[in-house]
Amino acid sequence: MSHSQELKNPLKIAQGTEQHVVVSAQGEPVIRPSGLDKIKVQGGTVLKGNIPISGAKNSALKLMCATLLTSEPVELTNLPVGLADIGTLSKVLNGLGVQLALRSDHVGLFHARDIAKPFAPYDLVRKMRASILVLGPLLARFGYAEVSLPGGCAIGTRPVDLHLMGMEAMGAEIKIEEGYVKAKAPKGGLIGADITFPIVSVGATENNLMAATLAKGTTRLMNAAREPEIVDLGNMLNKMGAKISGLGTDTITIEGVKSLHGTRHAVIADRIETGTWMVGAAMTGGNLILENTSLDILGAFIDPMRRAGLDIEQSGNDIHVARETKPLIGTDIMTEPYPGFPTDLQAQFMTMLTLCAGAGMVTETVFENRFMHVPELCRMGAHISVQGNSAIVRGATKLRGAEVMATDLRASASLVLAGLVAEGETTVNRIYHLDRGYENITEKLGNVGAKITRLSE
Ligand code: UD1
Repeated sequence: MSHSQELKNPLKIAQGTEQHVVVSAQGEPVIRPSGLDKIKVQGGTVLKGNIPISGAKNSALKLMCATLLTSEPVELTNLPVGLADIGTLSKVLNGLGVQLALRSDHVGLFHARDIAKPFAPYDLVRKMRASILVLGPLLARFGYAEVSLPGGCAIGTRPVDLHLMGMEAMGAEIKIEEGYVKAKAPKGGLIGADITFPIVSVGATENNLMAATLAKGTTRLMNAAREPEIVDLGNMLNKMGAKISGLGTDTITIEGVKSLHGTRHAVIADRIETGTWMVGAAMTGGNLILENTSLDILGAFIDPMRRAGLDIEQSGNDIHVARETKPLIGTDIMTEPYPGFPTDLQAQFMTMLTLCAGAGMVTETVFENRFMHVPELCRMGAHISVQGNSAIVRGATKLRGAEVMATDLRASASLVLAGLVAEGETTVNRIYHLDRGYENITEKLGNVGAKITRLSE
């Protein structure tokens, strides 16, 4: 079947191995409510074998938003279609009028030919903060957009002021009314500008990068974020006809063009999933081949993992990690924007520190209030004390299985890791968070020796 035939139906999400995105009788995507599902982990196993790494959630979401910038079809491969967040953003895009199909072979087809109204309602946006990333593309292409503010989030207040600041510098008039961002570009489109972000923000860099591709003249984003996902987004935009340079540095220059065209693009590997299973290998004394991923995107995560005792090497398209006999040693880390230690691996690293000889200090500088996993780890026997934005972990603890839950994605992953080494059984509640960011987690871990099951309520 040709892509245009596949796209005739407004939206299809194929039923594959994914556990929670299913197709209703009407062909509508249904994200199965997985909030009450649980994962049970029996501790004491060693992870050994191969884990295929999915495409990066945090790249895929932005690439999907970028498809709004062109009236031509865009094909994304290596798309992690099994993630709840991909389903949620698909609903937002479909609500805007994008024809799309998500296939179980990890291909997504997107065609934003006709956008009836550049309006993203609260009902859809509130489910996922990253939906605010439709604002820049919509404003750039149509000259106006209304997007609901995403609302609160479990990891700090996470405002979007910097997203809006950049667009205002490009000439947009922006009002916040009744919980909506109402933005228009009154001078017949956005105008290139110099924008210096007061702090490094991934989302603000991406939203303004997309907006600037269709602005008149040149935009410079200074103190820009340098994450590999931003480089991936910029690379795809360039394939679509954008003129972007300086990707991966703190100054990104965008020469505006009149229009962008369709393309085919492969999503980069998920560095956070890669890092999570590296921690799993270190904690269990395991030996894993992480397939289709690269050390090049892991930044400052690699050194502390080596210092802790994990052997790490790139082998072709895979990463081989092992800690079969070496002891685990405590070490200090501080989260920072890329290439610093990623905040999204902080909870997992802290969980590993509970097993290490000696103490380790974890300092979180990217988000306020990102230690929600600490009380849960302490319930499993960990010795962690928090002072402001630092936590001291006293190691060499024998964790004990318990019933736990977490209120964010990476904290949930850290509890699964804790369950792998804990004595007895650990039940992780509120699996909804894991479904947002880890594709087929029970299958992937089960295949490398974990005793892990998902219980649906
Ligand atoms: C993205 C990632 C998230 C990761 C984070 C930092 C996605 C979908 N999410 O989130 O997994 O943890 O980068 O690597 O890619 N801030 C402001 N004003 C703004 C925007 C941000 O003050 O307008 C602050 C935030 O509150 C936070 C800091 O900037 O303290 C960094 O946030 P940001 O880099 O924007 O994170 P996200 O893009 O939301």
